[in-house]
Amino acid sequence: MAKKIIAVTGATGAQGGGLVQALLRDGTYAVRAITRQPESDKARALAGAGADVVRADLDEDASLAHAFAGAYGAFCVTNYWEYFSPEREFTQASNMAQAVKGVEHVIWSTLEDTRKLIPLSDNRMPTLMGKYKVPHFDAKGEADNVFRELRVPTTFLLTSFYWENFIYFGAGPQRDPDGKLALTFPMGDAKLPGIAAEDIGKAAYAIFRGGSHFIGESVFISGENLSGTEFAAAFTEALGEEVVYNDVDPDVYRSFGFPGADEMGNMFQFKRDFESDYAGARVRSEALELVPDLQDFETWLAANKDRIPLG
Ligand SMILES: NC(=O)c1ccc[n+]([C@@H]2O[C@H](COP(=O)([O-])OP(=O)(O)OC[C@H]3O[C@@H](n4cnc5c(N)ncnc54)[C@H](OP(=O)(O)O)[C@@H]3O)[C@@H](O)[C@H]2O)c1
Repeated sequence: MAKKIIAVTGATGAQGGGLVQALLRDGTYAVRAITRQPESDKARALAGAGADVVRADLDEDASLAHAFAGAYGAFCVTNYWEYFSPEREFTQASNMAQAVKGVEHVIWSTLEDTRKLIPLSDNRMPTLMGKYKVPHFDAKGEADNVFRELRVPTTFLLTSFYWENFIYFGAGPQRDPDGKLALTFPMGDAKLPGIAAEDIGKAAYAIFRGGSHFIGESVFISGENLSGTEFAAAFTEALGEEVVYNDVDPDVYRSFGFPGADEMGNMFQFKRDFESDYAGARVRSEALELVPDLQDFETWLAANKDRIPLG
């Protein structure tokens, strides 16, 4: 009998890539890796590893319908940071929700609509782009409704801050004018749930393996929830050099000036001010049931500390 197919968007990226690797290791399912660029090095590597590489664009409905046709499962993820537009992210998610007709199990990689907890009228943080508090959260959360309204058999996968942000997004320790390493977040004493990006894909794999009882459920995942002080202590230990936690006001963080600083300031403030809702929903022991080798921060840092640019 032919293997059931799982179609994976973002297959050349962090989340989808982790899922593709987990699926290929297991071998139970056939893997359809969706990309805009089948000729890219990453796509060719996936084909070489055994995935069927199919071209589609989240902005093009017809290409998506083709990419999902005949699949048993579909993993849906958007990449907000490519365009910084919550409207476009919502449209791309809606396009996928419409294109997965006939698919038996869909995982939508989503996040909370923060406006349910902090309405636009709440002036603790600025409203951004007209009608959002944390645009890349709110658009994803708003798109949950589309999957529900279209009765797509969906598992809603709510992810956490990737520790890879310490490598790629300049979020790691930076030297202050005195040469001391400092980790800067506007999180106060609140815990920041985090995860090794590849473990998101492993969790998605476990959800597909788990089957229909996950349909309609929201699954929250985190590798470990740490405060800024705890992150700094882990960095100090791993790097062999003192790293201090520099807790700044969210307004200060929003004013840092890098692209998306206002949005990231709002995001961290949301996680700080609604710690019991946000971190409270993300419990390591629950993710561990899905991913038995789920990394904690110490494990991730030991493997990745040499990749972190210390500015
Ligand atoms: N960084 C974090 O801490 C964090 C935490 C939670 C959630 N997230 C969310 O994760 C999402 C990004 O996922 P990621 O980190 O796995 O992405 P990534 O590693 O940056 O890779 C982006 C992927 O999206 C695909 N893609 C982008 N635009 C596409 C389009 N128009 N059509 C088809 N494919 C498209 C790319 O495929 P090709 O280029 O091959 O076409 C690539 O595989 C963002 O929405 C972000 O909000 C991030």
